[in-house]
Amino acid sequence: MADGMVLPAIIPAKSSRALWRGPEIAASSDWLFRLSDDAAAEIRSCMAPFKGRDISPDDLTEADFPAPKLAAELAPLSLEISDHGHGFAVLKGVPIDGFEGRDFEIIHWAIGKAVGPVVTQGGSLGYIAHVRDLGNDVSKSYYAQVGGPLPMHKDPIDLAALLCLKAGRSGGTNLLVSAAALHNHLLERRPEILERLYTGYFHSSQPEETGNPAITAERLPLFIQQNGHTFANYLQAPIYRAVESGKVSLSAEEQEALEVFDAEALSEDLTIAIDAEPGDVLFLNNRTVLHSRTHYQDFEALEDRRHLLRVWMNMPAWDRLPPGSFHYAMSEDGKEKIFMPDLLGAG
Ligand SMILES: [Fe+2]
Repeated sequence: MADGMVLPAIIPAKSSRALWRGPEIAASSDWLFRLSDDAAAEIRSCMAPFKGRDISPDDLTEADFPAPKLAAELAPLSLEISDHGHGFAVLKGVPIDGFEGRDFEIIHWAIGKAVGPVVTQGGSLGYIAHVRDLGNDVSKSYYAQVGGPLPMHKDPIDLAALLCLKAGRSGGTNLLVSAAALHNHLLERRPEILERLYTGYFHSSQPEETGNPAITAERLPLFIQQNGHTFANYLQAPIYRAVESGKVSLSAEEQEALEVFDAEALSEDLTIAIDAEPGDVLFLNNRTVLHSRTHYQDFEALEDRRHLLRVWMNMPAWDRLPPGSFHYAMSEDGKEKIFMPDLLGAG
């Protein structure tokens, strides 16, 4: 939103399945799914030609992994992670025993594509991102390759799914918050902060991939309301990187609004805490839910460290978000990447 524009009146997010408070739904099982033995066996059967052969899912096509039972079984989960459900789900019981190396990548790609079209994640990341602490600096790397806690954020895509391979020594809990609940929480307690978040922030962008300027031409709002939905549109790193570039600055009020957002998004009466075990997949709707990670203690050896695989799915049948939403997507020819802020710090 450009400077000087008048903001529309901010209205509360309406009651829906996407509006939830963590403590209230933590005890429910709406979002908990377990893969049947039949579907697990189907995965093992489909994996037989690839097992132990170091084949990348980037080299496979839909026809290489026919898994109708898996697709049918994930249909209710797909509804739960849509804009009309709670926006997240945990799938337990994915068969990982007996597999190694790139086998896990193919299994996770197959699970992702059973829900929606899996897209590449840009930069050096292909269809599969390895979420693991490589000792990188967060300001110069993807979130996927740094350790420690992460602030609440969205991945810049409709859906993300994380397959846990190793849980680390302790900690690393996923904290999720409903965008609609956070929106109303701020509207009640800090309406002036919410107004600032709607006015939005300049973000750094990635000219080499998109042709967009290095700083977004306009401020991008951190909340979006569209067709009765309330979406969050927040990834901290591109905002701060825009400031670090020296091309824009943050006023004290803008800085405060980000800090309030970060803190309130972690409110215990809003978030749900989810610890993943090996074989669990956490599905995230990045429009209606924000996610974060608590601090964790890891093991020293790389092969023992906390390790998750991530896929991103773009859902062309879903309502498209307005231009102020930053989003990574395939163009109509299925090739070109469209993305507003840069990918560093994403996901
Ligand atoms: Fe993320």
